[in-house]
Amino acid sequence: MAQKLQTVRGIRDLLDGEIATYNRMIDIGSRIASLHNYDEILLPIFEYSSVFLRTLGDASDIVNKETYTFSDRDKRSLTLRPEFTAAMVRSLISNGLTQEMPKRFFTHGPLFRHERPQQGRYRQFHQFNCELFGSNSPLADVEIINILYLILSEFGLEDKIKIEINSLGDKESSEKYTEVLRQYLIDNIDRLSEISKERVAINPLRVLDSKDDRDIEVISKAPSIEQFLTSESLEHFSNVCANLSLLGIKYNINRRLVRGLEYYTHTVFEFITDKLGTQKAIAAGGRYNDLIESMGGPAIPAIGFAIGIDRIHELLQVYQLNKTNKNHTCYLIPIGNTAEVYGFNLALKLRQKGIKVAFDYNLSTKKRLKIADREGYSLCLIFGDDELKNGEFIIRNMNISQEKRVPIEGLDKALIQFLSM
Ligand code: HAM
Repeated sequence: MAQKLQTVRGIRDLLDGEIATYNRMIDIGSRIASLHNYDEILLPIFEYSSVFLRTLGDASDIVNKETYTFSDRDKRSLTLRPEFTAAMVRSLISNGLTQEMPKRFFTHGPLFRHERPQQGRYRQFHQFNCELFGSNSPLADVEIINILYLILSEFGLEDKIKIEINSLGDKESSEKYTEVLRQYLIDNIDRLSEISKERVAINPLRVLDSKDDRDIEVISKAPSIEQFLTSESLEHFSNVCANLSLLGIKYNINRRLVRGLEYYTHTVFEFITDKLGTQKAIAAGGRYNDLIESMGGPAIPAIGFAIGIDRIHELLQVYQLNKTNKNHTCYLIPIGNTAEVYGFNLALKLRQKGIKVAFDYNLSTKKRLKIADREGYSLCLIFGDDELKNGEFIIRNMNISQEKRVPIEGLDKALIQFLSM
C-alpha cells in the first residue's frame, strides 16, 4: 500500500502567515543587526559531528539524544546543525578570521533537534542569530541584549515578554558551584522527580530548570551561584545590569537561570513568555568566553543570542499581531469582459508603481468576492462598464468593510494611501 504523504513528525511546512513572520524576522533582524555593524554569514546545514558533539557539552540533552547524526557515503559522521553558535565558531576558525577581532556576524535558517514535538517545539525550527566575537566589555553584553530587545520591539512584543538574566561566572566558579549544588541535591535526592534524580549525576545545573513541583520545592532552598562568583564576575554582571537599566530595558535577575548548552560563562539571559505552555523562552543567549579556544582557536571572548522564529510566530498569533502576506494587497474585481481586459493592463501599470496587485481570470464576481475574503486581501478594486465610462472605481477596504469611489486619475496614489493604513 502506498505510504500516506505527510511530513516527518515534528517537521512542518511554513505557509502563508508563518512565512510572513519568517520574512519579517529576516528583514527586521538583518536591518537592525546591520545598523550595529553585523555582517551576514550563511552557514552549512550540516557539519562534521565533532563541531557540535565536542562543544555543546557531553551532558547536554542536545548532544545526548537530540542531534540528527548520520554517516555519509564516505563513512564520515555528520550532524544536522542543532544550533548556530558552534558552527559560527567553526567558520571563524576555518576561515582564518580569528586574527581580525572584533567581528560581528548574524545568520538565520533552519535547525534540527530530535526533541519531543509539542506547541512551540519542533524537530526542524528556525532562528535568527547574532554573535559578537572579541570583546569582553560588559557593553558588548548590553549591545547584544539591546539588539534582541530592538528586534522584538519592532514586532510590538517588548511589553509582552520578560527578560531573565544571570551570571554563571568563569568556568572555575561554575564548576565549584556545580559540585556544591550536586552535593545539596544528593542530600535531598528522595524529594526530587525521577528525571532530576538522573540529572544529579550527569548535570546538576539542569535540575534548576525543572518545572516539576517536587524539584521546585528543593531548588528553592538550594545554594545560589552568586556566592561563588569572583569579584570580577560580580563587577562585570553589575555593569551589564546598570547599563541595561540606563537603556530603560527591564529585566529580572534570576539566580537559578542556567542554560541547556554547556559552553556558557558569565552573562546568560532568556526572553520568556507564559503564553506558549511549557515552552517559555522565545529567545536566549549568553557569553561563551572559552568556546573558541576549546575548538582549537585562540582565546577569544564572545557573546550572542538566538531568537526562535517559530515561537515568535505563535506569540504574535496569541496577541493578534501577526500579518499575512495578503495584507497590503489590492485585488481587482472586474465585472464583464471589457473590464477584465482593462483590469489586466491596469494590474501591470499599478505593479509598475510598486503596488501589490492580485488578479484572477475568468471568474464570476461572486467567486472573486469569496476569494478576496478567504485570502484576506486588504483592498478590492471593483469596476464594470459603468465605472469605466464614468472614470470612477470603487475601492472596498476589506478590513473595515467600507467603500469609496475614486477617480481613475490619482488611483495609484489613493491605493498607496489605503494600503499603508
Ligand atoms: P537555545 O536556547 O538552545 O540557544 O535556543 C534559542 C531559541 O531557539 C529558544 O529560546 C527557542 O525560542 C528556540 N528553540 C530552541 N529549540 C527549539 C525547538 N525545538 N523548536 C522551536 N524553537 C526552538 C541556542 O541555540 C544558542 N545557540 C543561542 C546563543 C547564541 N547563545 C549564544 N549565541
